[in-house]
Formats: sequence, C-alpha cells, structure tokens
Amino acid sequence: MGAMVRICFVCLGNICRSPTAEGVMRHLVEAAGLSAHVEIDSAGTAAYHIGKGPDHRSRQAAAARGIVIGGQARQFTPADWERFDYVLAMDSSNYEDLIAHAPPEAKQKLRLLRSFDPASPPGAPVPDPYYGGAEGFDEVLDLCEAACRGLLDHLKREHGLQQTS
Ligand code: 4NP
Repeated sequence: MGAMVRICFVCLGNICRSPTAEGVMRHLVEAAGLSAHVEIDSAGTAAYHIGKGPDHRSRQAAAARGIVIGGQARQFTPADWERFDYVLAMDSSNYEDLIAHAPPEAKQKLRLLRSFDPASPPGAPVPDPYYGGAEGFDEVLDLCEAACRGLLDHLKREHGLQQTS
C-alpha cells in the first residue's frame, strides 16, 4: 500500500555513529508502527572496519537505553545512491566525501543528519566519539535520538506514512 522510504545513515567507520543512528531510528519507527514502510541501513565512507560489528562502547551506550544495535560494517557504494531516498551524513567530512562522488541527480538525497533536529544549529555534526571517553558515546545517542525524532516527523509529513500494524 503506502510508500516505502529508504534511509541510509553514513559515518566514517560504520562502527559507532551510523549503526547507532540506525538502531535509534529502527526503535522509533517500530514504536510508531511504521516498520513496513521504512527501510533503514547504515554504511561508512572508509573501508577500515568492513565486516566488524558495532564498537562495544556504542553497544553499551545504546543498550542502556533499551536500544539494540548490530549489523556488520560495510562501505558506502555508488549503487547506494540509487537504492536509498535519504543518505544522512554524521558530519561535514562524511558529507564532503559523499558529495564528491555522488551522481548529480542524487545529490539532493544527501543531508546532514542533524539538519532534521529543529534544535540543532545549522551545519552541526554528530561528533566522532572513537578516540574519546564514554560520555562521547552517550552524546551520540542524545544527538541521534533528537535528529531521528525530527526525521520521523519529516517522513510522516512528506511521505504520508500511516501506521498499518
Ligand atoms: P564512526 O567512528 O565513524 O562513528 O564509526 C569511527 C570509527 C573508527 C575510526 C574513526 C571513527 N577509525 O579511525 O578507525
């Protein structure tokens, strides 16, 4: 019946921020009864961590909020520009790497994730937590939750998504 919307969250390694955003969004979409209408994935711009699961610090910070994160790291590919409706970058470095290789007609699919958070300053990142302490991972959860709430509101509005379950 209704629209199927496809979303890919993108960070550098696909082991911290983008798997977190993926888990947060899936949690919100399930709670809204919209799982049949939204496909959610994540990827990294870099190849360093291909095949690995999420960083244990990300898993732990998410689990503390009842959010399960999983999957295996993969690198964003050119075919992803066709597959997804939204490609959501965590920071300006991810954004620049992505746009440099995007087909011209796909560039409008790319946004910074936090642009969907009405309380976020323009251009604000989800900062890379990899080399910092546990509080950085908790902040990633906070920022992803706020942005994904805004994203879900946007999807409901723009795509007319309605609960079917
Ligand atoms: P992510 O975090 O981009 O949020 O997955 C990082 C993971 C690994 C590295 C950097 C950031 N790294 O340099 O290996």
